[in-house]
Amino acid sequence: MAAQATRIVFLVLLSFGVFSCYAALDAHYYDQTCPQAEFIVSQTIRNASIFDPKVPARILRMFFHDCFVRGCDASILLDSTPENKAEKDGPPNISVRAFYVIDDAKAKLEKACPHTVSCADIVAMAARNVVTITGGPNWNVLKGRKDGRVSKASDTANLPAPFLNASQLIQTFATRGLDIKDLVALSGGHTLGFSHCSSFVARVHNFSTIHETDPSMSTEFASLLKNKCPSLNNNGDNAGQVLDTTAAQFDNDYYKQVIAGKGVFGTDQAMYNDQRTRPIIESFAKDQNLFFREFAASMIKLGNVGVNEVGEVRLNCRRAN
Ligand code: HEM
Ligand SMILES: *[C@@H]1O[C@H](CO)[C@@H](O)[C@H](O)[C@H]1NC(C)=O
Ligand SMILES: *[C@@H]1O[C@H](CO)[C@@H](O)[C@H](O)[C@H]1NC(C)=O
Ligand SMILES: *[C@@H]1O[C@H](CO)[C@@H](O)[C@H](O)[C@H]1NC(C)=O
Ligand SMILES: *[C@@H]1O[C@H](CO)[C@@H](O)[C@H](O)[C@H]1NC(C)=O
Repeated sequence: MAAQATRIVFLVLLSFGVFSCYAALDAHYYDQTCPQAEFIVSQTIRNASIFDPKVPARILRMFFHDCFVRGCDASILLDSTPENKAEKDGPPNISVRAFYVIDDAKAKLEKACPHTVSCADIVAMAARNVVTITGGPNWNVLKGRKDGRVSKASDTANLPAPFLNASQLIQTFATRGLDIKDLVALSGGHTLGFSHCSSFVARVHNFSTIHETDPSMSTEFASLLKNKCPSLNNNGDNAGQVLDTTAAQFDNDYYKQVIAGKGVFGTDQAMYNDQRTRPIIESFAKDQNLFFREFAASMIKLGNVGVNEVGEVRLNCRRAN
């Protein structure tokens, strides 16, 4: 009897997509309840990106981190409380910012259609908008995610570190239902933005007992990075390097740089040195339209990771209701 009940509960949860990576989200989810949702988010993102050109990169990375930790449930937006240190205050928080932009969109949405549009859906729409306005592809964002109630700083340990090897990268993506093509396409997110020295400096100082710099990096690029980050652990809060030569433009230059040994992170270069990922990098470097199509398809898959279709729509993205 108890076993039967457990089985039914399990099947019900399963049918709501609680354990499923491929939830039944819908591009038209808010068509009846909040038809202005897309427009409000898009205007907010556009305006914020004009005031601060760092916004697009920060929002794109926010979406990735949100989806990789507890699924795309806006856990990254919850503030810490006296009892709980939240995800946003965990170790790789240094460049996940621009939360105010999401707050701004949420405030406008609460006025237009109260208690309707989830914070997780706002982040997903915003991530698409920043790609489009910086010159990248456009796609229909599937919606209908609900917001989670849990956010833990310790969970950020599940994010991939910039020194993982190709097998480890493939593995961390595979556990979220993302394949090798998704890994390479989504890493193309590094066409936007900047990294602090701390994330790559170990590649250019005392890399190993025999190599001062990472031998997979171009020597010219290694000197540039050494110049920007002269010390192993004391380069100031703002020192660092843009991730490709057109860091405000969403394009395929990231892949060209990786081929030239000018990928900023060990992970970028590791994918080029592995036979499973190298041909995909080469195909994206050659054909920007192919990269755009595959990036959009992989962003839709990323947006399905660990989605809750039952749960709440937060009133304030920083606090569970
Ligand atoms: C494949 C595994 C990945 C690793 C190891 C990784 C690692 C990193 C690191 C270490 C930084 C720099 C943080 C800092 O020092 O400021 C960074 C920046 C960034 N990442 Fe990734 N990342 C990965 C995948 C992704 C994905 C899938 C996306 C989005 C689709 C993404 C988007 C970005 C963006 C846009 C930035 C720049 C942020 C800014 O300028 O504020 N990354 N990443
Ligand atoms: C545009 O962005 C700026 C800077 O964040 C903000 O002060 C202003 O209120 C925004 N305007 C609109 C119409 O959203
Ligand atoms: C970022 O994380 C570090 C390490 O957990 C923490 O000490 C710091 O307060 C956090 N910073 C911000 C701005 O949240
Ligand atoms: C990748 O790293 C893991 C963990 O350190 C290690 O076991 C594995 O051998 C490495 N794989 C390659 C191909 O270097
Ligand atoms: C470089 O690494 C070696 C051992 O791996 C260590 O003894 C030495 O202090 C390091 N040098 C610097 C500048 O960190």
